[in-house]
Amino acid sequence: MSNSFAAAASAPPHGSAGSFDYTKDDFLLISNLLREETGIHLQDSKSTLVYSRIAKRVRALGLSSFGAYCEHISRDNAERQIMIEALTTNTTNFFRENHHFEYLHKELVGTLVEAARKRRPVRIWSSASSSGQEPYSIALTILGVAPDAPKLDIRILATDVNSQMVARGAAGTYDEEEVREIPAAQLSRYFTKSTSESGHRYTATHEIKKLISFQQLNLFENWPMRRRFDVIFCRNVMIYFSAETQMGLWQRLVEKLDYGGCLFIGHSERVTGECAAHLDPIGITAYRKRVGQRS
Ligand SMILES: C[S@@+](CC[C@H](N)C(=O)[O-])C[C@H]1O[C@@H](n2cnc3c(N)ncnc32)[C@H](O)[C@@H]1O
Repeated sequence: MSNSFAAAASAPPHGSAGSFDYTKDDFLLISNLLREETGIHLQDSKSTLVYSRIAKRVRALGLSSFGAYCEHISRDNAERQIMIEALTTNTTNFFRENHHFEYLHKELVGTLVEAARKRRPVRIWSSASSSGQEPYSIALTILGVAPDAPKLDIRILATDVNSQMVARGAAGTYDEEEVREIPAAQLSRYFTKSTSESGHRYTATHEIKKLISFQQLNLFENWPMRRRFDVIFCRNVMIYFSAETQMGLWQRLVEKLDYGGCLFIGHSERVTGECAAHLDPIGITAYRKRVGQRS
């Protein structure tokens, strides 16, 4: 690799087969584009990560350098989306940061289900839902209290900028390792097991899927949802954005939360800006929007 910018540790050595020219300008162009489109802010230290994730695309397109790839994405919107999806970090699991689901179970679901039984629509938003484990964990928590929830007007909106992750969530198929946090009784009730050479797979049933609507949505674009939400999960995504970007997004999220509604955020995140004054802490990284406050 001539003109190497990526750290030698993970980038292929100079001149080896399959290596591509990669300059600091290439990294800057890619990272600026990613930030403009998704808010994701990559430090210089992520240069190697960019190389390793995008080199596959350079190769697949038959290009010889990152410079040629940068030129390509300036003309090709579809490839720009592929690039974005290659650079998002989608780590997640069922019942991640379980204290949120415990709170949902103990303090919220009863009231929400009661409201739904009185024909008030209940709306929950998993706003960076990755491959679906978070919205399915919300659904399983609701079903644990109210097995008839799919017959009520309770809906979980699951959105993510990464369309491949959204498609995975909508398909709802997970391997044995991924479902290990799901209690056995719920796994057998709400997932169908299939077996192939690569092991067991579990696919969410129609019953649980009825509670969730998966849609691709970039948090920095317009939000088409008209209603406010009773509960918003916005976890482990703000960490990828700059402090200023985070502040603007917190404001929009709190505006989209109903009075008395709850916001769950990631373990290393913190609500910043004026809107924080409208939230009361109710648990670990969990907040309730004060009733009667404008925001
Ligand atoms: C680390 S995962 C967190 C998943 C889940 N919320 C959790 O806590 O387990 C972060 C997700 O945020 C998504 N993401 C990043 N930027 C986004 C944006 N601008 N709009 C919507 N989703 C975004 C990524 O695609 C990724 O799936």
